Amino acid sequence: MTGPMAVVTIDGPAGSGKSSTARAVARALGYRHLDSGALFRAVTLGLLRSGIPEEEWSEVKLAQLEEMKIELVPSGTRFDVEMDGIVVDRELRSPDVTRRVPGVATIPAVRDWLLRRQRAAAKGGGVVVDGRDTGTVVFPDAAVKVFLTAGIEERARRRLLQDEGAEPPTRRDVRREAERLADRDRQDETREIAPLRRPEGAIEVDTTGLSFEEQVARVVEAVRGWG
Ligand code: C5P
Repeated sequence: MTGPMAVVTIDGPAGSGKSSTARAVARALGYRHLDSGALFRAVTLGLLRSGIPEEEWSEVKLAQLEEMKIELVPSGTRFDVEMDGIVVDRELRSPDVTRRVPGVATIPAVRDWLLRRQRAAAKGGGVVVDGRDTGTVVFPDAAVKVFLTAGIEERARRRLLQDEGAEPPTRRDVRREAERLADRDRQDETREIAPLRRPEGAIEVDTTGLSFEEQVARVVEAVRGWG
């Protein structure tokens, strides 16, 4: 890739396909993908491992966050998340972490610390970051901002397929997962700090009827149009 390297933000609700889209867009452009949700998950895992009682998490101090030794390490077209020098990935997606991460994401000290980590990683551009507030709070001046949406049942279906491989989920499974997602959306949209909303100037892409290739192509075109 020649020419200037943009910061591209992709925000949207749980299960809208942000991370997989961001990963593919980064590959297509020779950029690097930064999964901000993985950072919030890493802090949640760190808090679970720390032994600090859950009712005290909201008072967590900067020094305690730094002790977790969470690093974003460039690796090809992605950033790995390391804790204490070890790459973490699957353990970030455990139900224990997933259930607690929206609460952890409302702690101001956590958001502030992760905001700085994200800005440092994206210095110089060439980064596709996905999350909930990346186009509104973390990178309000990003060159290209995308807001991804999809119908809730579609999001639930995708989540289940992702988790359970090729097994087609039953309608009951889909309904149950849709309720879980709606609950998480509510927590992310109604919190006071950095709520999920469409960033000003964002391109909105509803992926309900799009193939994965189509949704990736829309974002890639927008970035090429900018550069
Ligand atoms: O995208 P993912 O499901 O990994 O995000 C996990 C949680 O982290 C979200 O439900 C949200 O509460 C929080 N998050 C956030 N801001 C971001 C990314 C994630 O608050 N930029």
